[in-house]
Amino acid sequence: MQTVLDYLARHQARFVRELMEYVGFPSVSAQTRHRADMRACAEWLARHCQSLGLEAQVHSTEGHPIVLARTPRRRGRRHFLVYGHYDVQPPEPLELWATPPFQATVRNGALYGRGASDNKGQHWAHLKAVEAYLRTGTELPCDLTFLLEGEEEVGSCSLSSFLRKNRRALRCDAVVVSDTGLPARDLPALTYALRGIAAFEITLHGPNRDLHSGIFGGSVHNPALALCQLLARVHDAKGRVAIPGFYKDVLPLTAGERRQLQRLPFSAAAYKKLLGVPALYGESGYSPNEQRMARPTFEINGLTSGYQGEGSKTIIPAWARAKVTMRLVPHQTPEKILRRVEAFFRRHCPRTVRMEFRPGHGCPAYRLDPGHPDARAALRALRRAFGREPVLLREGGSIPIVNEFKQVLGAETLLLGLALPDDNAHSPNEKFDLEIFARGQQLSVWLWQELARG
Ligand code: BES
Ligand code: ZN
Repeated sequence: MQTVLDYLARHQARFVRELMEYVGFPSVSAQTRHRADMRACAEWLARHCQSLGLEAQVHSTEGHPIVLARTPRRRGRRHFLVYGHYDVQPPEPLELWATPPFQATVRNGALYGRGASDNKGQHWAHLKAVEAYLRTGTELPCDLTFLLEGEEEVGSCSLSSFLRKNRRALRCDAVVVSDTGLPARDLPALTYALRGIAAFEITLHGPNRDLHSGIFGGSVHNPALALCQLLARVHDAKGRVAIPGFYKDVLPLTAGERRQLQRLPFSAAAYKKLLGVPALYGESGYSPNEQRMARPTFEINGLTSGYQGEGSKTIIPAWARAKVTMRLVPHQTPEKILRRVEAFFRRHCPRTVRMEFRPGHGCPAYRLDPGHPDARAALRALRRAFGREPVLLREGGSIPIVNEFKQVLGAETLLLGLALPDDNAHSPNEKFDLEIFARGQQLSVWLWQELARG
């Protein structure tokens, strides 16, 4: 493998320049005004894959395009999908970025820009590893298909039907995904579980227009207040979700898992400092790592009502809305949870307002047996690339499509994250560590060797 590794070492500077160009596309899947940017990004990506000698196409969907790029299929070789997403979260609030989100900048050994770590940089590492095999004429021991989508950050709707339609072409031994994290630069990790998610929006409608709060205030229920009152019922004093049945299907953590999570390096003081909060908050009886990795939650992602502009405006708003996502753990299902939550809000919504409940995207949690032979192969590759003993992680984020890889393709997913806890995914000043970028490429090189053995 030395020629392949040498190739990587020689070309780091160019890889970083390419990644800067990639991050330059404002591929924000949530915002319709970026539709053309999404396509341009997908086409650039496919052309780049072609230039490396991969057979690549852009597939149009009802939503954003999907890019497929593959090495030639050979009989008797194991076949792996490398999944990633070229869409990114909205960059707002823009004023909090030290440098513009779509003008990638390198400083302090990291590449800054929206999508640098989530997820452009992470799958770029795999692509560059494959380039190194191809350009040095080194035989790839497995067949690979890159599957890069543009809707991960909004629920992967188009990919779901694409998988079903293309299940033959995508049939594989396992899926490799680098879209999670590692606890520290020198602590590589295999993530064996992800939380699921269930999204909804709740709107309370009050008067038929914004009202003068002096003339009418006191005689009608302010929808913003009604929503706050309703949302305040969701958690009890112990930080538990008080919605009946919320925890009913939850698979408890085993003593072994709790021990494993305790072994992860964690300092409450450093954690508070990283997040800038005066104190931590969460479900009592669980450590912060358990709370964020292995327990279900109910989070308000957005809360909107009334006047948000400059100065003051004395109104009773006509409506108030909350955007909520709940994180799920095995064996909760989004459908059941959403039904329970809607019933809870219907029961407690006062008669003074009209409630509208809109369920959104969702997926169950994912779990892989860490003793699976391919998981063990991945652990060997991590050990080789990082020169350290890897840890097993559960993570709190969600990657909706991994459940369908299992259901539709019958394939397990190996989650080999390259994001650091302070990489600012979904926050201003997102970055990707360039040392980990290089390690990630080496990881990919070793991974195909280890996985090929079957
Ligand atoms: N890369 C994340 C998922 C992630 C991050 C998993 C950290 C584990 C640790 C992914 O891009 C993401 O943000 N997913 C969304 C999915 C949602 C929009 C359906 C998420 O988790 O919020
Ligand atoms: Zn994300």
